[in-house]
Amino acid sequence: MSGGTPDAAQPPTAFDGTPDAVQPSTLTEPPSTLSVSVRGAAPISAHPRPPSTPSSSAPGATRLPSPAEPPSALSTLARGAAHPSPTGSPSTVFGGTPGADVFDALRAAPAKIDLSPGVPDLAAFPRGAWLRAERGVLNSLAPAELGYGAPRGTPVLRRAVANWLARNRGVLVDPDEVVIVAGVAQALGLLAQVLREDGITALAVEDPGSLGVRQHLWHWGLATPPVAVDAAGLRVDDLRDSGAPAVVITPAHQFPMGVVLDGDRRRQLIRWADEGGLIVEDDYDAEHRYDRPPVPALRSMLAEQVCYTGSVSKLLAPTLRVGWLLVPTRYREAVVAAKRFADLGNAALPQLVLASLMESGELERQLRLLRRRHIRRRDAMIEAIGADLPGAVVHGAAAGLHLVITFDADFPDADLAAAALARGVKTQPLSWHRQRPGRPGLVLGYAANPPTAVAEGVATIAAALRELR
Ligand SMILES: Cc1ncc(COP(=O)(O)O)c(C=O)c1O
Repeated sequence: MSGGTPDAAQPPTAFDGTPDAVQPSTLTEPPSTLSVSVRGAAPISAHPRPPSTPSSSAPGATRLPSPAEPPSALSTLARGAAHPSPTGSPSTVFGGTPGADVFDALRAAPAKIDLSPGVPDLAAFPRGAWLRAERGVLNSLAPAELGYGAPRGTPVLRRAVANWLARNRGVLVDPDEVVIVAGVAQALGLLAQVLREDGITALAVEDPGSLGVRQHLWHWGLATPPVAVDAAGLRVDDLRDSGAPAVVITPAHQFPMGVVLDGDRRRQLIRWADEGGLIVEDDYDAEHRYDRPPVPALRSMLAEQVCYTGSVSKLLAPTLRVGWLLVPTRYREAVVAAKRFADLGNAALPQLVLASLMESGELERQLRLLRRRHIRRRDAMIEAIGADLPGAVVHGAAAGLHLVITFDADFPDADLAAAALARGVKTQPLSWHRQRPGRPGLVLGYAANPPTAVAEGVATIAAALRELR
């Protein structure tokens, strides 16, 4: 457990200023002790919250399903039966157990400033480059290429993704092994179906960990036993105790707490996998890093024990719905079959355009542009939190598109999110992403708003907090 220094104040790493498209050899193993972005004294809680903090049964706190609940109960929750249809008002969005439609409801809510996590600077989408690439693709497209394609994706994009992963994530993979999917969300759905066929009915998940990821797994009938996360990442001892045969993990930038899985934990996890455990590596935003060197994907070391997935949702835009999935040899045909019967394969035209952007270097240019813009926005958020929310502890600001603030206090964070939304600012309560009790907090996306809006959003949250007290 470490902390004490805000990420923004840490000296730049040796990798800052080098080209963003790194060769595999420049990817470093993470340190065994990690300096987590922390303002104030309290580090990330690795354990259930202390007695003074609210429990998940406190008024306004969300009740999330326990890992012991059978898949049928989990999929009922995933279908959203516990939640009214989305109207977008603060009380319906944050008022009870978050159902499957809770993110729809949050998106539908009118707000002046949207600090929801998970989106890059969408105003920077490279419209011109996309149009030029699409024109080039259409000019050279053979008529037959407008017919039905291969379920695993167009060969051109599979090759471009393999090259991208080698340059940026240290993953060396044959293009034939790449399956193009409709984002990480679809990858999880395909995997869930295939793993269930293989007799796996529970996938352990990080706690805190993405509610959205859990919802997808519940939908496909998998239980999601929680595994604690601390300042070094996933607690592998807790994973062992869970008895789960497989785990979903975000090692490069833990969602939501933002820690990187450190060297010791990596080794422990690799040992667990060598003994038969299966890792699902969700590399959802690993390309975005600011104050720390890149770390290679687990898949780069463990091809036959890791299912690896990523997408362009955080690089370009979620609306494209394009991602990739690599699986161990034993699951390859089953995953392709699941993709075939889901949708016959991704749309070909966007695949070809994306391949062109990847191979021309345009996507790396876009990543460098985003990094510069995101850093300014991240810094504006940290500065505003320091000025307006001095009691808040900042976590995980060295990478990604969001950070987390926690409070050393006892109140339902859903109430704070509701009060902020009533004042026009959208956020996610940290309790949505918890299965076990822990400190209240907010997950705050900074990437999608200019610095002035970020600062105004934080000031509004501070005003909402004063109103609650
Ligand atoms: C941790 C995590 N995994 C997966 C996803 C889904 O990403 P995609 O758009 O690629 O389906 C998200 C979306 O925000 C996420 O936060």
